[in-house]
Amino acid sequence: MAGDLRKKETPEKIHFKMGAMHLEFLHKKHIQNLNNECFHCHKTEFAKIDNWGEKTAHTICIPCHDMNDKGPVECNQCHK
Ligand code: HEC
Ligand code: HEC
Ligand code: HEC
Repeated sequence: MAGDLRKKETPEKIHFKMGAMHLEFLHKKHIQNLNNECFHCHKTEFAKIDNWGEKTAHTICIPCHDMNDKGPVECNQCHK
């Protein structure tokens, strides 16, 4: 599993489409800002996020923005 993921290219951007809602996630820009540390988001395995979905996403994404006072924390800042 991890072996296969390691061969995957690290995406520059990830476009999430949820029904009518869109979110453009700048993956590489985040990685640069976070000193190349993947563990902020990929906590248990290289390039993988367990149980990815609404709850997991919100738990990973929002607290860091909140803590740093940088990045979106309001619903409509992420969900266009
Ligand atoms: C700020 C959060 C964050 C950081 C930091 C981060 N990633 Fe990601 N990464 C994501 C998200 C979100 C996804 C998409 C998750 C999904 O759809 O399951 C993803 C997906 C990926 C994928 C695609 C996996 C696939 O199935 O196609 C790769 C490869 C990847 N990341 C590599 C890395 C590497 C290598 C690092 C560190 C150098 C890193 N990521 C750091 C959030 C992050
Ligand atoms: C460990 C900290 C951290 C995590 C985790 C994190 N972010 Fe961010 N994010 C930031 C910071 C810091 C900024 C502000 C960057 C700037 O102003 O240059 C930001 C900015 C953003 C922005 C505004 C546009 C941009 O990219 O600069 C979006 C959208 C965003 N984040 C989405 C997400 C999503 C979606 C996730 C979860 C997959 C996530 N972030 C996880 C730290 C984080
Ligand atoms: C930092 C960005 C961010 C913020 C702020 C945010 N979300 Fe999300 N939300 C996401 C991400 C990323 C996903 C998962 C996208 C995916 O899996 O395609 C998600 C998923 C969802 C989903 C599931 C959509 C679907 O079709 O699966 C709903 C509903 C949702 N969010 C509502 C909200 C509400 C309501 C708020 C405010 C209380 C909020 N979000 C705040 C990033 C954010």
